[in-house]
Amino acid sequence: MEKEFLKSIFELILFKQTIFKNLHLLTSAMEKKTALITGITGQDGSYLAELLLNKGYLVYGLVRRSSTEATTERIDHLLKDVHESGARIFRHYADLTDTDSIISSLMKIKEETKKLPDEIYNLGAQSHVRISFDTPIDTSDIVGLGALRMLRAIKLICPETKFYQASSSEMFGDVIETPQSEKTPFNPLSPYACAKVFAFNITKMYRNAYGIHASNGILFNHESERRGVNFVTRKITRGLARISLGLQDKIFLGNLESERDWGHSKDFVNAMWLILQQDKPDDYVIGTGEKHSVREFLEETAKCLGMNINSNGEKGVNEKYIDENGKVIVEIDPHFFRPLEVKTLLANPEKAKKILGWEPKIKFKELAQLMTEHDFKLAETEAYLKNRKRSW
Ligand code: NAP
Ligand code: GDD
Repeated sequence: MEKEFLKSIFELILFKQTIFKNLHLLTSAMEKKTALITGITGQDGSYLAELLLNKGYLVYGLVRRSSTEATTERIDHLLKDVHESGARIFRHYADLTDTDSIISSLMKIKEETKKLPDEIYNLGAQSHVRISFDTPIDTSDIVGLGALRMLRAIKLICPETKFYQASSSEMFGDVIETPQSEKTPFNPLSPYACAKVFAFNITKMYRNAYGIHASNGILFNHESERRGVNFVTRKITRGLARISLGLQDKIFLGNLESERDWGHSKDFVNAMWLILQQDKPDDYVIGTGEKHSVREFLEETAKCLGMNINSNGEKGVNEKYIDENGKVIVEIDPHFFRPLEVKTLLANPEKAKKILGWEPKIKFKELAQLMTEHDFKLAETEAYLKNRKRSW
């Protein structure tokens, strides 16, 4: 009897919570803009979610099921229990390779908010260029067909929704002119870049054929303290910070001569938002207009850490960097060379400056400084925990 009573009380609380959540969502959605982000757990997705929440949006993010909680670490500080009042960020399990899950997510948003998203940002991708040579089919499915799946769902369910496609400077590949603008022809050199060219073109096609507000941001490399650790900038800042505290001996790199136009992700997600605030959909190149080599990034990071490092002067696989104590701290491993290499990328962001009023705030040196400081702090904590363990 008592058990039955407790059960009904419990059911009543759950019912109240569901009603409360839906009511809260409904009133919020009526007043606020709603955005859906694919790739919300990635570097850009996390900064974009922050930006949209600060602007008062309701934010939905597609996340993939994982056996660990680690994949949401970049957005954990934003997530709230959905039953808490004031929650404005929500996760739906879905995958860009699974059309049904994309459609289900749109229908769930409609059910919960009684309207469809105002904006969709398609940031989900297998975004590592070298790995795309190992997994070309999976990469093309996520990056290329994934964009088409999103556009098809929009055409069928919410043709009024504005769509942002995360296009990439990697599409310029073996560059035909320097700097690269919206008019520069694509010349892709990797499975990832080929898939991004398809996604770019299909976005343009849906815009022209069906009148969908679909835009491409052609973004040059952008990094941050949240950059994945197997991209070259973060590999260097994290690696050198750990070496400086004795947590690792050396790092292995590939081509040091590649040049990239590196900016900060926070600036670049602002450009994404500006692109979708325009009355007319269009395509925009987003970059800093400065290029630097991997070697320069390595040397700048060492400078930030106060490490005095010098090359042994050899070229290619025999090159090494040596510290003031004669210790080798950087070696070249051909494993990190690519079957085809994009040697140089440099943006001409004039159109974005003129039409969007967009300009990057963070340039090369400050980027290296921010990333290095962040990774040094992480390494300090790691070293502290390691020493504590030893003294037990
Ligand atoms: P990222 O850190 O690698 O994040 C990629 C995101 O995509 C993650 O949330 C990942 O989820 C998700 N994802 C992977 N496979 C998926 C699938 N099958 N279905 C749904 N989601 C999937 O990339 P990023 O640096 O933030 O870049 C964001 C977007 O901009 C990407 O499309 C990238 O190609 C493009 N882009 C990046 C740059 C740059 O320099 N960062 C430049 C130009 C264009 P998990 O967390 O579960 O892995
Ligand atoms: N990852 C990596 N690891 N790259 C290395 C290494 C290494 O050990 N050593 C040298 N490099 C060189 C690469 O060969 C490349 O020329 C350059 O460093 C940059 O590599 P990544 O940081 O992996 O970035 P990416 O330029 O290939 O691709 C990034 O930018 C694209 C936009 O141009 C990714 O974010 C892509 O998703 C994005 O589209």
